[in-house]
Amino acid sequence: MIYPTILCGGSGTRLWPLSRKSYPKQFVPLLGEETLFQASARRLTGAGYAAPVVLTNSDFRFIVTEQLAAVGIDPGAILIEPEGRNTAPAVLAAALHLHAIDAEAVLLVAPSDHAIPDAAAFQAAVQRGLAAVDQGQIVTFGITPTRPETGYGYLELAHAPEASEAPVALTRFVEKPDLARAEEMVAAGSFLWNAGIFLFRAADMIAAFEAHAPEVLAPVRAALAGAQTDLGFLRLAPEPWGLAPEISLDYAVMERAANLSAVPFSGAWSDLGGWDAVRAAGPEDATGTVTSGAATAIDCTASLLRSESEGLELVGIGLDNIIAVATNDAVLVADMSRAQDVKKAVEALKARK
Ligand code: GDD
Ligand code: MG
Repeated sequence: MIYPTILCGGSGTRLWPLSRKSYPKQFVPLLGEETLFQASARRLTGAGYAAPVVLTNSDFRFIVTEQLAAVGIDPGAILIEPEGRNTAPAVLAAALHLHAIDAEAVLLVAPSDHAIPDAAAFQAAVQRGLAAVDQGQIVTFGITPTRPETGYGYLELAHAPEASEAPVALTRFVEKPDLARAEEMVAAGSFLWNAGIFLFRAADMIAAFEAHAPEVLAPVRAALAGAQTDLGFLRLAPEPWGLAPEISLDYAVMERAANLSAVPFSGAWSDLGGWDAVRAAGPEDATGTVTSGAATAIDCTASLLRSESEGLELVGIGLDNIIAVATNDAVLVADMSRAQDVKKAVEALKARK
């Protein structure tokens, strides 16, 4: 059985003012009617998939239950992290929890904030990955790089992918390289981007932590042992959890393990890491402009215009490469090339408070 394990802890400041600390981007209908979290959960349903396990924090627990109920999905478990310790402790907690229930459990760890429009193609890639999981591999999903992005992990393939897109062994996993290394890896042609999705047997991930990040094990085990069930949520014990090192799975395990494979994925994938990515993933008109809500574009090119506020009309005229997003209490206007700097707006506003 594949247990979808959905990570729902991030805050996504680069999509301000839509993504807020109290209501981050995964819970917002960024593309179409469904929220990214709902789409992520629905993508991982069907034959062979167990009910999803969701890892989140206390503030989001009712948003999670409401949004799952709205799309008719019953969660298998909702684990509440007393505080965010990054993805390594979260993934380990899920692996230990599921391993205790099903010694053969296979986890599909997925973020809650990505766009993968073709769910069938993605499930087919997961099926291909199972062959490597049977060999004790930790399987990643590889995207053909289009730029020397420094915010992603890179997967070095042992050989060129086959037309069947069967799993390929990895010789290396490089998390968030500097620009020079990223440029080298893109030029080398033997690297794929890590999509941030992981498929593995619970037992193999626990063994990987034992081998490569043993310091994470004791606090996470203790947090699970002391966990309390509360209204159907499994609350990890705060004291031991607070002792878990704050580290991502990529650094704790993936950069160190040898039993790694990648399934090449040629379907569309976006981590929606900024408004520029939202424009690229949205339904654009002939001029490359994406509008949504009460927004009107007149003679605009390659721009994004969104009004999320009912009754607030947003009109752009003659804009080129511009982001304009209005909500009930904030308006963002920025050059598209500065999409990554939107997090600075959040910092500036925080400093003023
Ligand atoms: N539950 C929980 N708890 N979720 C978390 C936590 C946490 O403490 N921290 C992060 N997450 C969630 C985020 O919400 C996101 O859905 C996912 O885990 C990945 O975390 P990010 O912080 O977004 O990671 P990243 O984007 O820097 O890097 C990862 O994703 C890239 C692709 O988008 C890495 O896996 C890279 O290698 C990869 O290329
Ligand atoms: Mg991310």
